[in-house]
Amino acid sequence: MQVRRAQGCELQLADGRSLIDAISSWWVTLHGHGEPAIAAAIACQAQELEQVIFANFSHAPAEELATRLSQLTGLERLFFSDNGSTAVEVALKMAWQWWRNQDGGADGGNPGVERRQLIAFSGAYHGDTFGAMAVGDRSLFTAAYEPLLFNVSRGAWPHTWWGDGDVEAKEAQALADLEQALATPTAAVILEPLIQGASGLRMVRPAFLRAVAARVSAAGALLIADEVMTGFGRTGALFACQKAGIQPDLMALSKGLTGGFLPMGVTMASERIYQGFISDRPTDTFFHGHSFTANPLGCAAALASLDLLEQTPERFQQFEGRHRPLLEHLSQHPGVHHPRCMGTVAAFEVDAGEASYLNPIGLQIQRHCMEQGVYLRPLGNVVYLLPPLSISDQQLERCYGAITSAITALV
Ligand SMILES: Cc1ncc(COP(=O)(O)O)c(C=O)c1O
Repeated sequence: MQVRRAQGCELQLADGRSLIDAISSWWVTLHGHGEPAIAAAIACQAQELEQVIFANFSHAPAEELATRLSQLTGLERLFFSDNGSTAVEVALKMAWQWWRNQDGGADGGNPGVERRQLIAFSGAYHGDTFGAMAVGDRSLFTAAYEPLLFNVSRGAWPHTWWGDGDVEAKEAQALADLEQALATPTAAVILEPLIQGASGLRMVRPAFLRAVAARVSAAGALLIADEVMTGFGRTGALFACQKAGIQPDLMALSKGLTGGFLPMGVTMASERIYQGFISDRPTDTFFHGHSFTANPLGCAAALASLDLLEQTPERFQQFEGRHRPLLEHLSQHPGVHHPRCMGTVAAFEVDAGEASYLNPIGLQIQRHCMEQGVYLRPLGNVVYLLPPLSISDQQLERCYGAITSAITALV
């Protein structure tokens, strides 16, 4: 299917059909397609400075973006890259090298702490480059590369849903397991705060994340928050870490960063991490860079997107209140299981065979909804909505209507 144009929440296809983009084109389109303020900012920037090598040189949009993101995240430093996977790679490399630098770097020196363990969670997805795949859970996506992926210890992710009676027991077990894993000297723990995306919009409670963060900190390990999906209002707060009340050492951002207009990633880092790379030893340098580092067009888009978020915070803060009654109503359908929602994200499972990405029910639901003018992309038997912030009440109701019709016909 060829898309000819996209405006707001609607994709207009070359064959004349139009579809509501209920998943924000893989979670990137934050405000809406063609958002005029962002389009104008990019056009304006293109006439001033479209790209320049970001070594030796800097530029105003990058500096302003750095300042604003550090104020918003509480992490003083940032490193630019190209997408979510590279933002995660940078975070992992920084965490690893930070400990090595503490250790006296390649030249030896200080008696160091040998911290060789990385911990990630079951069900995690952090991207498709090698480091990101290694910390992601092993799955169909990573099977072909298994021998090339480095070892990671894996904690349990006690995801929950409305009416889940077992959540406390699951959390207690997960925390006990994590404590045990942290007994081995650990460089860093990486997690998707509050919502794991690709494994099926699996949500944990803020209190669980606070307990994880406390244990990571007590063990002296670094905490990496992958906010590639959850960042920029998706969970109802600007960042999931803020909603959960945790402060990571490193944070990966992308997707909604530019409002979904241009590919860009950033890795936020605390001053403490940054200082670990300030040294006279060349081997302490963070040798990582991309051709399009801090692309001025991406920075201009990100600044315009931040303006919009700051001008209308109620659009993300109040989104959950729009999902809730519609999801509650949908949940009465006997084929709907484990309903859950947070911020702009609503999800549930359909009981149709195996809980797997390859479960064909997802494709069947997708086809049925497209016939109703709604674009969804279920993850196997997990159906979810993650629409742009500008979706109207009427459009949102149409999405739920299409899902109801699909479930009634197929489950
Ligand atoms: C939590 C998370 N991290 C990283 C990534 C990878 O981002 P990208 O596809 O931009 O490389 C994704 C993509 O879905 C994601 O959801």
